[in-house]
Amino acid sequence: MLAARARAPHSKDAVIIDQNENPLGPSQPARDAISAIIPQGGRYADNLTDDLVHTFAQFEGLDPDYVHAFPGSSVPLRFTVVAFTSRERSYITADPGYEAGMYAAEAAGARVVKVPLTTTHAHDVKAMLAAGSDAGLFYVCTPNNPTGTLTPHADIEYLVENKPKGSVVLVDEAYIHFSGAPSALDLVKAGKDVIVLRTFSKTYGMAGLRCGFAIARPDLLTKIMDSAGWNFMPVTAVVAAIASLKDAQLVPERRRINASVRQQTFQWLDRNGYSYIPSESNCFMLDTKRPGKQVIDAMAQQNVLIGRIWPVMPTYVRITVGTREEMEQFQAAFQKVMRGGAVAFSLPPARSTRKRNPHGTFVQV
Ligand SMILES: Cc1ncc(COP(=O)(O)O)c(C=O)c1O
Repeated sequence: MLAARARAPHSKDAVIIDQNENPLGPSQPARDAISAIIPQGGRYADNLTDDLVHTFAQFEGLDPDYVHAFPGSSVPLRFTVVAFTSRERSYITADPGYEAGMYAAEAAGARVVKVPLTTTHAHDVKAMLAAGSDAGLFYVCTPNNPTGTLTPHADIEYLVENKPKGSVVLVDEAYIHFSGAPSALDLVKAGKDVIVLRTFSKTYGMAGLRCGFAIARPDLLTKIMDSAGWNFMPVTAVVAAIASLKDAQLVPERRRINASVRQQTFQWLDRNGYSYIPSESNCFMLDTKRPGKQVIDAMAQQNVLIGRIWPVMPTYVRITVGTREEMEQFQAAFQKVMRGGAVAFSLPPARSTRKRNPHGTFVQV
């Protein structure tokens, strides 16, 4: 698992559009705040984390007791799954989807059910409910990683209203700001069994700084904290996050930039006859019509690092939207790989990717 996430050695001038990072990095106010806090780096300074929580809660109209800060959203994602799934309570997710929660569920001994997306690449909430009468947790990622597609708020509400008693719905909003879609925070405010995850890694460009939130009713947060344990936040991330939240232009401007580069890339793909899944996020799935891994390797030869494949869509590769210049380099390399015979392609014989999890249930991986 770790090896699959590691980035291969690459040259300094490589185009890196493989891990859904934001090439713009932290905003200028965030950078200034980091520089200013460095002399205080010897202090835990958890009062700053309180400031961050209060700032976020105020912006979103939430009670601060409903918000807990973490170093990124991977930590609360894992521990929410560990808290709410077990050998008796299964984990229901979408396919293709972001897999981190699935790995946590497997570690908790839970049955994992992967439910195909609908034809519009939304989460199929009715099929998820049908598959999860014993569910502990339903995981909804919107916009979805890897497809960048949305699940309507009404579908999430339906899931929440019809889920089995005692289960929770975890809504991962890592990419929500790229889309402008409505958040599920209203369901948290309404006291539902919903946990929302947010991160500063994507739109805010702070993946390497590590800051995120779990937002939920205090009794649900307590369960997460019981498994996650207490930790301090990196002060650099905290002050950068506060400065970012206070920068009213940041989200609209970055959403506009991402949408504009993404649209330009889609137009180029259309003009050149390539297929892709239209996305509302900073990534999209591109159909190479051949084993995606071969294209990934051939693109790396061209000094362009692109994202991975999902077993359920073996000819698709995930592309992160980079800067305009990076996407132009991507286009040139992709054209060369696809048309120029930069690599000899072949389709391997179809084979099953089904694997047994430690509890004897077959899962699609
Ligand atoms: C859907 C989704 N959730 C959570 C994460 C975790 O991000 P981080 O720990 O940087 O907040 C990622 C990272 O790519 C992601 O794609």
